Amino acid sequence: MKTLIAYATKHGCTENCAKELASLLKGEVNLCNLKDDINASIDLSKYDAVIIGGSIYAGQIQNEVRKFSQEKMEQLANKKLGLFICCMFEGDQATIQLNSSFPNQLVDRAIAKQCFGGELNIQKMNFFEKLIVKMVSKVEKNSNKTDIKDGTSDILHRNIYIMADMMNNAR
Ligand SMILES: Cc1cc2nc3c(=O)[nH]c(=O)nc-3n(C[C@H](O)[C@H](O)[C@H](O)COP(=O)(O)O)c2cc1C
Repeated sequence: MKTLIAYATKHGCTENCAKELASLLKGEVNLCNLKDDINASIDLSKYDAVIIGGSIYAGQIQNEVRKFSQEKMEQLANKKLGLFICCMFEGDQATIQLNSSFPNQLVDRAIAKQCFGGELNIQKMNFFEKLIVKMVSKVEKNSNKTDIKDGTSDILHRNIYIMADMMNNAR
């Protein structure tokens, strides 16, 4: 089986999760960063499976992921399809974000959908991002997740394993 993982990332968390997922998948796996122009006209015909992922900022996935999902919808119709997001919300809120990040047709027919958790890398954030995280961390000051000084990592490795397992065992 040949699999493509097409993703977009801002600060690297999604890329690291995509690489971890790739290491767990059987067969040949190609990684494609959708922010690299060279990947804009990627040919899906040589892949049996396609996994699409991105990260959530202010409730939205990257435009590149949205565009890729919409433009490739027809070619994705006969592929084993997986969808994932990286984000800091968990549970129902994360699921809502995942479902609203991809076209309904893809959400409905994906064989694996997972939220991989997220990372807040304060060093890589711009002024406005730091400000937003600071404001959110004040609102959630009882939460132990948002340590504004160092950032925080809350990757759900188990969900990456679950997705790999579902993709590997899909007929
Ligand atoms: C400015 C800002 C806004 C964010 N907005 C959301 C959000 O609306 N929902 C959410 O679940 N996570 C949100 N996050 C968390 C990111 O999705 C998380 O940091 C993710 O791991 C980033 O992945 P990346 O490094 O691949 O871009 C936000 C993070 C920042 C810095």
